[in-house]
Amino acid sequence: MAARFIKIAVLYLLVGVCFGGAMGATGNFTLAPVHAHILLLGWVTLALAGILYTLYPAAAETRLATIHFWAHNLALPLFMGALAMLLSGNNGAMPVVAITSSVVILGVACFVVNIWLTVKRPG
Ligand code: HEM
Ligand code: HEM
Repeated sequence: MAARFIKIAVLYLLVGVCFGGAMGATGNFTLAPVHAHILLLGWVTLALAGILYTLYPAAAETRLATIHFWAHNLALPLFMGALAMLLSGNNGAMPVVAITSSVVILGVACFVVNIWLTVKRPG
């Protein structure tokens, strides 16, 4: 699981910086929150999870870690797509934003519970 989190995190990094570059090139910052959250929920959050799972391998072996991985990575791209539509003026995307962001939050909650249950003091 640690490797999976790290490998997918770097993909969000690539997508996020390309997005940033496109915003800079066009001078259109409408979608800045999409850029920010691809990088913060995608790259930063998932890379930190991968690093924590490397430090605490037992935490990476649980069903909660698997549920977090899939909830986060199935919902986040849809969340970002719907947020981009919403910010572009398509208010119909709001329910999709609400549902997919909630799924990401539930995934993160699984991560938190997992860390609390499995991470022990070294030694
Ligand atoms: C080559 C890489 C990057 C480029 C070209 C880039 C470009 C941009 C641009 C053009 C904006 C909009 C600024 C504005 O609205 O005035 C922005 C905002 C932002 N970027 Fe990036 N960015 C890059 C990398 C990153 C990375 C690696 C992160 C986080 C890990 C990040 C986080 C953010 C955040 C949080 C905002 C929103 C800031 C705010 O709302 O004030 N960016 N970026
Ligand atoms: C499902 C999880 C999350 C939701 C629903 C969420 C929601 C939001 C909302 C509604 C805003 C205000 C946007 C605006 O003013 O246009 C925002 C801004 C921001 N959030 Fe999040 N957020 C989430 C996760 C995170 C995480 C994990 C981080 C950092 C690691 C983060 C960092 C930021 C930053 C830096 C801003 C200001 C940048 C900007 O205006 O684009 N968020 N977030």
